[in-house]
Amino acid sequence: MKNLLKMMDLTSGEITEILDLADKLKQEKKESIQHHLLKGKTLGMIFNKPSTRTRVSFEVGMYELGGTALYLNSKELQLGRGEPIEDTARVLSRYLDAIMIRTFSQQEVEELAAHSTIPVINGLTDYCHPCQVLADLMTIREYKGGFEGLKLCYVGSGNNMANALIVGGIKTGMEVSAACPGGCEPALEIIDWAESHGDFILTDNCREAARDADVICTDTWISMGQEAEAASLVEKLKNYQVNEELLEAAKKDAIVLHCLPAYRGREITASVFEKHSGEIFDEAENRLHVQKAVLVKCMAG
Ligand code: CP
Ligand code: NVA
Repeated sequence: MKNLLKMMDLTSGEITEILDLADKLKQEKKESIQHHLLKGKTLGMIFNKPSTRTRVSFEVGMYELGGTALYLNSKELQLGRGEPIEDTARVLSRYLDAIMIRTFSQQEVEELAAHSTIPVINGLTDYCHPCQVLADLMTIREYKGGFEGLKLCYVGSGNNMANALIVGGIKTGMEVSAACPGGCEPALEIIDWAESHGDFILTDNCREAARDADVICTDTWISMGQEAEAASLVEKLKNYQVNEELLEAAKKDAIVLHCLPAYRGREITASVFEKHSGEIFDEAENRLHVQKAVLVKCMAG
């Protein structure tokens, strides 16, 4: 695997390999077994948006694998003053062993990868968040023992998380439902792909989507970069909340996932969040183990 740019690029077999390695690294960390698989390697982390989990899990992950990570705020790079992405790619390829980038446009990430001779990992764009979805899949497998026969339901904005979860859910063989309001649907090509590659429904009815679900996922109504549209998004999404009533439609033992940060009282109630905080913070922890697996797959080759 050279790059991780979007979930669509991964085969089902590659997803399983990443999750198996992440499970192994998690277990070995518990046993204090260290693998310096990336000794002497450097990851550059370009951030054009804020981050807690992605930044810290990649930085700690590199450290635990024997390498090092550089935080590069894009506003402080010449990239932020208009240096072309292809020149940034060619220069950074001479210094680093891999790049992780969090930015707005998926196209920018694709261009960075096209002009880099080193692996590029997508740490979130407006289009998708593959690293998060791999951690979500790892968490689902931990709690449910596998993916077979499961129904994954996403409720909320048809954003980067929705796009990536739909693809990840279908690629791992789950039934997938998404409840999103008109004007907040997932990307059209994701819907088309999901409908033709698996068991997928998109609806504007949350209860229909949640019916008999094993996993309920949600995300913020207002993603980074959408602040100017906040009021209209809140209006559109106000009924797309993960609450006790919605969970009554799901299976009794359904787990609830949230990539965080969570906005209680909006996409999820405080009581549902606390009741399911076990799996939600396991999901956050799993970012570290999955990031390490992705780094090894992309860089250790
Ligand atoms: N879930 C996630 O990506 O969190 P951060 O924005 O804190 O990195
Ligand atoms: N959809 C959110 C995810 C944050 C991890 C955003 O893009 O801001």
